[in-house]
Amino acid sequence: MAPPEELTHWVGLEWAIITRMATTDFNLTPILDALVERGWCVAPDFLLVEAVAELRTECLARHEAGAFHHAGVGSGSAQVINEVRGDAIQWIEADDPAPALRAYLDATEALRQAVNRELYLGLEQLEAHFAVYPHGAFYKKHLDRFRDDDRRSLTAIVYLNPDWSAEDGGLLRFWPDPTGEGEALEIVPTGGTLVTFLADRFWHEVTAARRERLAVTGWFKRR
Ligand code: OGA
Ligand code: MN
Repeated sequence: MAPPEELTHWVGLEWAIITRMATTDFNLTPILDALVERGWCVAPDFLLVEAVAELRTECLARHEAGAFHHAGVGSGSAQVINEVRGDAIQWIEADDPAPALRAYLDATEALRQAVNRELYLGLEQLEAHFAVYPHGAFYKKHLDRFRDDDRRSLTAIVYLNPDWSAEDGGLLRFWPDPTGEGEALEIVPTGGTLVTFLADRFWHEVTAARRERLAVTGWFKRR
């Protein structure tokens, strides 16, 4: 399968983009297969266009209402705000009743259950936040697992940006090789696309965004 140009810059690595199979019930099998085989996966249209639009509106409304704070790195007292990342975030409660969150929470819950069934990861709970990268913001190369908290097992990012192109920056650079060396994939943060990977294994970064860039970023945690 030829890599669709709008989704990523193809840099010669094995292709792991999953094609959507159904319009309503997302077929999770290709995602599970990719996670088993290589520990990461990019799935376009994980959320339908309407669900993405609602989530985006909700995210922007909360952002404009001043409900976001500047993201730090680390946790608790080790948290620092520095030149590592420039996004603003708002945490989402698992029981948040906002209708705009329904599709996202349902889809991630289905993913959690499927992953537990097939990969025995024992994922218990989703910790998720909206993220807004203003123009110029980036997130330097990192792993997602905190030194003082190793419960984050699986990362799941869903993008909320309609009509994003590579020229808009804000690309997710992702190193499929766990050493963090070699070639990186550059994934375009197109609305509805899910990127999921084992949180402790893969180095990644967000390149400087040239437009406001929105995402819901979640981590499935084990006990
Ligand atoms: C993160 C992160 C990547 C992205 O929030 O830890 O790496 O594409 N986000 O938003
Ligand atoms: Mn990350």
